[in-house]
Amino acid sequence: MSTAKLRDFIAAMTRLADQGLAEGPLLEKAKPLLAGLIAQDDWLPEEFAKPNPERYSQYLLHCDPLERFSMVSFVWGPGQKTPIHNHMVWGLIGMLRGSEISTGFVMKDGRAVPDGEPITLHPGDVEAVSPTLGDIHLVENFYKDQTSISVHVYGGNIGAVKRNVFTPEGETKAFISGYSNQTVPNLWDRSKEAA
Ligand SMILES: [Fe+2]
Repeated sequence: MSTAKLRDFIAAMTRLADQGLAEGPLLEKAKPLLAGLIAQDDWLPEEFAKPNPERYSQYLLHCDPLERFSMVSFVWGPGQKTPIHNHMVWGLIGMLRGSEISTGFVMKDGRAVPDGEPITLHPGDVEAVSPTLGDIHLVENFYKDQTSISVHVYGGNIGAVKRNVFTPEGETKAFISGYSNQTVPNLWDRSKEAA
């Protein structure tokens, strides 16, 4: 599997981060980059596409050295779902394989309540979240019998961001997601190209 597409995306995101744009213009430019990456499902190394039967996986694909953005593959086993959670930074969600359902929530009287119709993402779709756009949702695999994978880009080192989950009982709890992997893809072995 070629890592060129992932490497090119990361280079483009790094150039974008260097522009120091406000969130709105940054997302305007980042969305087509992510849409371009997920337009074809032929670049994600198998190791970062593996479901875990116990729970959903969040594999770190890259973190900007200055932690201005990070990128993960989010792998859903059949029927898996997140708790209701927020992000505290901007995020872009690009559907790569399968399908997922995102239900938005808003805070009302100190508890998270559903807001609007759930959104179903299909391969190629890109959705945005952020504290300004709407930051609270619950996401689940559309499929009860197959794996789904989305690729996310966030405006920080998402696995280390202090954020929250919201229980059905109305409690707000501190949450730091971490990552499911210890090693990231090797983007830099260009020996095949060089040969
Ligand atoms: Fe999320």
